[in-house]
Amino acid sequence: MTLRKYVVGNWKMNGLRADLAEAATIAAIASECGAVDVAICPPATLVSAMIDAIPGLSVGGQDCHAANSGAYTGSISAAMLTDLGAKLTIVGHSERREAFDESDTDVQAKAVAALDNGLSVILCVGEPRAVREAGSAIDYVLAQVAGSLPATFAPARLAIAYEPIWAIGTGLVPTAADVAAMHDAIRSALISQCGDNGNAVRILYGGSVNGDNAGELLGIANVDGALVGGASLTAGKFAPIIQAAAAL
Ligand code: PGA
Repeated sequence: MTLRKYVVGNWKMNGLRADLAEAATIAAIASECGAVDVAICPPATLVSAMIDAIPGLSVGGQDCHAANSGAYTGSISAAMLTDLGAKLTIVGHSERREAFDESDTDVQAKAVAALDNGLSVILCVGEPRAVREAGSAIDYVLAQVAGSLPATFAPARLAIAYEPIWAIGTGLVPTAADVAAMHDAIRSALISQCGDNGNAVRILYGGSVNGDNAGELLGIANVDGALVGGASLTAGKFAPIIQAAAAL
């Protein structure tokens, strides 16, 4: 099954109001690439302003709490993101799994909350360097998928992002063969768990995607898009990735 390519920018803790102009340029380029779905997940402080400033751009959160409201200082709920007009949220990014000790069970609860509130979900998985070097990356990632995937979901509203931790922000990228093997394994696991619906779930690659390597990475079977950090912050760097996806 050929799925529409999905290119998502994760701005992490970067971006001030002045950077909305950059997002507007990105959105204008994305609108010329009709075959590709594009979204930006800015910091929470910019979600509302980006939605208001750029109609038509799909804007998302970078995380959400599993509860809709409550005494959770500093957290943001899926209900709050939906209230702003956000369309999606990332959950389970390795920077949160590591820094906030989020377990697969935590990530699953966040994904369920996001879906229940009408958001689409980008659920991140990925192995640390030591696991890759030990030869157990596929087993590790499939355990994360099994542990954090909601029991039921509409396949069009959930994407898996495979992001090897050692490739994030480092300029290192797995070989095309390793990416292919991992994405094939995730696809098989999705089919085992969800039947034919597993074919409709997009599997994104993330970790040092840039304008030079996007064409090759996005051309690999079962790579249905990219989750992009550093190279999504400017139109100059993000546009070539969106255009590479559109050219496939
Ligand atoms: P990077 O980040 O593109 O800067 O490597 C990807 C991510 O963490 O989502």
